[in-house]
Amino acid sequence: MNKALSIFIGVLISTSAFAQSDPNLGIIPAPVSITRANGNFILDKSTVLINQSIDGAKSADLLNAFIVNKAGFALRESKVPQPSQKSILLTSTGSDKLPAEGYTIKVTTNQITIVGKGAGLFYGVESAMQMMPDKIADKITIPAVTIEDYPRFSYRGAMLDVCRHYFPLSFIKKYIDHLAYYKINTFHWHLTDDQGWRLEIKKYPKLTTVGSSRNGSIIGNYPGNGNYLTPVKGFYTQDEAKEIVKYAAERFVTVIPEIELPGHASAAIAAYPELSCFPDRDTFVSDKTPWAGSRKGKQVQQTWGVFDDIFVPSENTFTMLNNILDEVIAIFPSKYIHIGGDEAPKTYWKESPFCQALMKEKGLKDEHELQSYFIQTIEKHVNAKGRSIIGWDEILEGGLAPNATVMSWRGEAGGIAAAQQNHDVIMTPGSMGLYIDHKQSNSPDEPVTIGGFAPYQKIYAYDPIPKVLTADQRKYIKGVQANMWTEYIKTPEKAENHAFPRLLALSEIAWSPVERKDLKNFSEERLPKHLARLDQMNINYWVPTPIGQSDKALSGGDFTIDLKVPVKGSKIYYSLDGSRPSENAFLYTSPVKVTVPPGEKRLLRTIVIAPSGKRSVTTETLLNNSAPEDKTTTKK
Ligand code: ACM
Repeated sequence: MNKALSIFIGVLISTSAFAQSDPNLGIIPAPVSITRANGNFILDKSTVLINQSIDGAKSADLLNAFIVNKAGFALRESKVPQPSQKSILLTSTGSDKLPAEGYTIKVTTNQITIVGKGAGLFYGVESAMQMMPDKIADKITIPAVTIEDYPRFSYRGAMLDVCRHYFPLSFIKKYIDHLAYYKINTFHWHLTDDQGWRLEIKKYPKLTTVGSSRNGSIIGNYPGNGNYLTPVKGFYTQDEAKEIVKYAAERFVTVIPEIELPGHASAAIAAYPELSCFPDRDTFVSDKTPWAGSRKGKQVQQTWGVFDDIFVPSENTFTMLNNILDEVIAIFPSKYIHIGGDEAPKTYWKESPFCQALMKEKGLKDEHELQSYFIQTIEKHVNAKGRSIIGWDEILEGGLAPNATVMSWRGEAGGIAAAQQNHDVIMTPGSMGLYIDHKQSNSPDEPVTIGGFAPYQKIYAYDPIPKVLTADQRKYIKGVQANMWTEYIKTPEKAENHAFPRLLALSEIAWSPVERKDLKNFSEERLPKHLARLDQMNINYWVPTPIGQSDKALSGGDFTIDLKVPVKGSKIYYSLDGSRPSENAFLYTSPVKVTVPPGEKRLLRTIVIAPSGKRSVTTETLLNNSAPEDKTTTKK
């Protein structure tokens, strides 16, 4: 077993997820179909693990390591079926009939058969692990069942911005482990931006010697109330990036690199000012921006937002970008190379005599067409290398490059327009909860975020296929992605807090058929067990607030507070006296009746404390029997 895989296995702690009452057997994302049969398979020390799949050795290792963790013993492995022997069989026989990435699991009293190949077999093994209950007296009892499963979308993605803050390689790997566990098959790595260039490019070393480092960052929400005055730096060498590509591939995750152009280019321009329309002009820094060090010359940005200094569409720029992309293409074998394309202000292009002359020469009627010319020039180069571009939805403006895939982030409109033009689309609208840098509750306990409101339920409610599309156009929607921008996410721990449980909701909308969506089952049956697993793994997930508690005021006199824990094994504490709840408050054990006399109010405040000691934010519900102005609130 290789080292990387053993690290992955090391984090495979049981979800203990199986429950008879749960029609999804604890599996996230919910499988396409689960058919129960009579009887059980009893897994014990006599069970043999047989791998007959051509590429299933790693999946077999994964399963056996999981069983060691769960049951305390390893299964004997064999290549040959042994009649009458209780066995778990991994096979690719029959997998040709399955949809891409699909698998089946059939559990009878004598055998568990997992059919699939490559990603399919890997996903089958993951589902099998998720459905296994805890052992009782050295035996794991697995119900007879047939599972058929395959993804709704071929592209299931998560983007991580490593520019606003740098994240170490160890965290990137851990993140990929979790993506793989939830059948999210694409890691979109946002590698370049105004605040840092994070990938070694051998031909242009200043991109990292200069561009990967900034002198400071603003404190607090934009425009900031000071500057930390501490440098933020870091980049990935090409060897490290290749290591990530390999690590991800072993888990059937594709890494898509993003090299931003023509905007979000301050770090590259700080390294090579000739990439700007105005190489001699200082980077514009507003007087309101708290800044570390000199404001003179070209600067790697220390604040957030959109900046006017973008790439000049000169021959020199195209030569440099093509050379950069050649190195990127050599590192990343993905079909797609993401070229950004978002938020490129046209101010400098309007002012630049060179750009205006170029537009005239090329017959471009405005700067949007110049942007389209820019993107199409890059696309030609990328296509000539056998790859395709993805761009943010601004690449629609001024005319879409012929083979481009559009990532729709400013709502769904860009995705809809692209699909109507027969272009592939990835849906990632910020307004629908897919921006996981947004806050997860309205509690004042939430950390500083960029704003917005995106609880996991909002992601869960989202259907990536817009209703306005015709049946023919719908096939261009290739998938869905969640984006984690990291202006306000400085540490791996905070990144984990933003990612979980939202990535689990993403997993289900990306994989499961829309008719299998069931928020109640997800939130109340499966999520608590998966979060208990993350809790055991010491992941800094966001602890949900109690199931059943409203954060809206309720009016009336008699209330029954009926709550459930959102993490298996967690405890809810509550107060009614206005104090901040902790272990010193009341422990919730069963429904609580609260009577509020006429003319009075009570404030219910709760906190959830998980087995690890991790805490939820405080949630408040005003129980109001007084104010006529509150009559509009929901009556319980
Ligand atoms: C984006 O959020 N600017 C793609």
